[in-house]
Amino acid sequence: MTGPVSPGPRKRLFVKTWGCQMNVYDSARMADVLAPLGYAPAEAPEGADMVILNTCHIREKASEKLFSELGRLRGAKQAKEAEGGRMVLAVAGCVAQAEGAEITARAPYVDIVLGPQSYHRLPEMVARATRAAGHVIETDFPAEDKFDHLPEAAAPQGPIAFLTIQEGCDKFCSFCVVPYTRGAEYSRPAAAVIAEAKRLVAQGAREIALLGQNVNAYHGDGPDGATWGLARLLRELAEIPDLARLRYTTSHPRDMDDELIRAHGEIPALMPFLHLPVQSGSDRVLKAMNRGHTAADFLRIVEKLRAARPDLALSSDFIAGHPGETEQDHQDTLRLIREVGFAQAFSFKYSPRPGTPAAGAPLQVAEPEKDRRLHEIQELLREQQLDFNRSRLGLRMDILFTGPGRHPGQLAGRSPWLQPVHAEGPLSLVGQVLPCEVTATHPNSLAARILSSPGAAEATGDPPNQEKAAA
Ligand code: 5AD
Ligand code: SF4
Repeated sequence: MTGPVSPGPRKRLFVKTWGCQMNVYDSARMADVLAPLGYAPAEAPEGADMVILNTCHIREKASEKLFSELGRLRGAKQAKEAEGGRMVLAVAGCVAQAEGAEITARAPYVDIVLGPQSYHRLPEMVARATRAAGHVIETDFPAEDKFDHLPEAAAPQGPIAFLTIQEGCDKFCSFCVVPYTRGAEYSRPAAAVIAEAKRLVAQGAREIALLGQNVNAYHGDGPDGATWGLARLLRELAEIPDLARLRYTTSHPRDMDDELIRAHGEIPALMPFLHLPVQSGSDRVLKAMNRGHTAADFLRIVEKLRAARPDLALSSDFIAGHPGETEQDHQDTLRLIREVGFAQAFSFKYSPRPGTPAAGAPLQVAEPEKDRRLHEIQELLREQQLDFNRSRLGLRMDILFTGPGRHPGQLAGRSPWLQPVHAEGPLSLVGQVLPCEVTATHPNSLAARILSSPGAAEATGDPPNQEKAAA
């Protein structure tokens, strides 16, 4: 796949993505795999030569959403055929993995069904689908095959880039489909990750977010023959010149070891913001969830992290109404939220995922009760997010500018805590990390004033890499 491939006639590819950042990454890689075949991105599915729906199965209504989208696309596919053309329709991602047979039965006009580990086989599958009638289904290849066969050439992602370093999960939380749809835990070799990171930086990335369902369980083969954990990998990546910022997501408290916590204090490029899902504040529920940690374990980790990096802010995931959750358990969750204080967080109503242990468990919580608990959790988290954003007012911080803002003359960027920021400034500053002062705060974003742009920094003798110099 790495040799020169002469592109065929230009064809149009539309990809729709649901779900997490890993799906966004996978969608981009699917487009990369298809680019040598002449597929270029299309803005809309109508008239496209190929449409990929990259699905997510983690919470409810995934298959309903998919089938209603497929119903709409059927018309577009028929219209294309009426003009003598052909639209290859593919369903990818975790719903494809979990419900492949049902998809081809209910929507026989779907040409390709492919699981998350089969993307590198897309060109061959497209060729088979365009040659033959009937479906092409691929849902069982190991992750290492996929990463070994993805092309090196990739479309640039911009100043913030995502890099999948780990896939799958062996933890089997009671509520979660990931171990079934994404399969066993797999870590990419460190050398492959470093090479990809260097390519991303050469293409203009200043910040890289390392992705994995269980990213801090990373244990890749190191170039020195040893197994590298995430801390070791982060230290190496932080050495890449011009890479100003590093993040990683999503983590599990059980894998938050002391070496990784230390890395937060010692690697300036590692941003002071961590998404660490806890799911519940009740030990009873955490046990029923098979999380392998208690509320106190989580609080201890938070304490150690804050000791290592005092400006660290936290994000998390919460589930309201897991089977067996009582009012007292719910109160314990609210207490944990108050105790930690989150900069932002995601919270979800428990939704039974077929095939997971919790789905068949007794004592399912009634819908209205789940709604109420979720509402209470969200209210508290919303207040905490407001407080956190307000606490940034007047602060000086480095902002990475990522593109134009919504209004003319405005730039969009990200704070060290991943908050969206807007500031007045020319587009030439996109891709720069610049010292700014926060002038206003909003529920979901900050406004800032640029304190010095690159020319001014030279004049004052400031080092050009503000982010690394900051700590
Ligand atoms: N119901 C509700 N939320 C869920 N999540 C995963 N599975 C379920 C489910 N069955 C949430 C968890 C996880 C996040 C990605 O999605 O909080 O951390
Ligand atoms: Fe799902 Fe639990 Fe694995 Fe996270 S750790 S992906 S919630 S099974």
